[in-house]
Amino acid sequence: MAGKRVLSGVQPSGTLHLGNYFGMIRPALQMQQENECFYFIANYHAMTQLPEPALLRQRTFDVAVDFLACGLDPSKTVFFRQSDVPEVQELSWIIGCVTPVGLLERCHSYKDKLAHGQEANHGLFSYPVLMAADILLYDSHLVPVGKDQKQHLEVTRDIAIRFNNQYGEILVVPEPMIQEETAIIPGLDGQKMSKSYNNIIEIFGEGKAVRQKFMRMVTDSTPMEDPKDPEKCNVFALYKLIAAPGEVEEMRQRYLAGGMGYGHAKQALYDKYTEHFAEMRERRKELVAKPELVEDVLRDGANRARKIARATLDRVRAAVGLA
Ligand code: ADP
Ligand code: TRP
Repeated sequence: MAGKRVLSGVQPSGTLHLGNYFGMIRPALQMQQENECFYFIANYHAMTQLPEPALLRQRTFDVAVDFLACGLDPSKTVFFRQSDVPEVQELSWIIGCVTPVGLLERCHSYKDKLAHGQEANHGLFSYPVLMAADILLYDSHLVPVGKDQKQHLEVTRDIAIRFNNQYGEILVVPEPMIQEETAIIPGLDGQKMSKSYNNIIEIFGEGKAVRQKFMRMVTDSTPMEDPKDPEKCNVFALYKLIAAPGEVEEMRQRYLAGGMGYGHAKQALYDKYTEHFAEMRERRKELVAKPELVEDVLRDGANRARKIARATLDRVRAAVGLA
């Protein structure tokens, strides 16, 4: 897999949490060493929910800071704001013309949002076309995403194949890299951690408020002295992700032996969380204090991204008869 071009995007739609970190951010950042990575903040996509302008700007900055604090290396990875490469909109229009309406009508994410009462604006409907343009604009080979994005990647492949059938082998047909195996990270209540379920632990929480969240995690009512099943416990599920293998084993034995209350496991998890993110938390504070540095990183990323975007778009324009 060495040397592939990897691309992924994340919407700036709320505070990033441990589910995002272990499910997406950490695996994406691990790919930086051996691949040419393009990661971007999908702020055009976030507009489909019509956030307040100040909020959209703030969340975009927050995601940038979070990724940099977590270890995104801008000297290797091209990191940018989607809207700084407006070429994506032109490609989106062009490929929209080979996209059957039925393909978009079948998208679960669109149907789910309508079912939840969101008004169907055109942006929401054509969301997968813009996502396809994001991917195809950079001749991306691999697109690491969560399971929820699988259908959008199938749409992307379908669009690329249709385009190539019509105009010749112009677009690279990408391979999905679905994180099926990555456990769904549980939230405070044991169901999938998600900002929509109000059960998140933020990556960079600090102090009393976040400690209380850990202490409020839902567990079963096995009495303190009884043995407990670690594999059924969401506290243990998170501990496994954060602690070292030896510590995980030790904790597993303490569950099985009985005599340990859940409060103890929660405190141990909280301590590990504090320690695990300590350095990143400090780095984050430094970045927040230097917004111009973050801005420089994003601008430089956009310049690098735009060169590739321009070349693809020129190739596409020539192929379809626009140039
Ligand atoms: P949310 O569910 O909080 O709205 P998003 O849908 O914005 O999160 O997810 C952004 C990325 O993080 C996606 O790639 C998604 O697969 C991943 N992700 C989100 N929540 C979890 C979780 N609980 N476990 C594993 N991965 C997750
Ligand atoms: N739709 C993705 C999500 O909500 C974000 C995204 C936009 C994306 N464009 C992309 C992901 C291109 C991968 C590739 O998570």
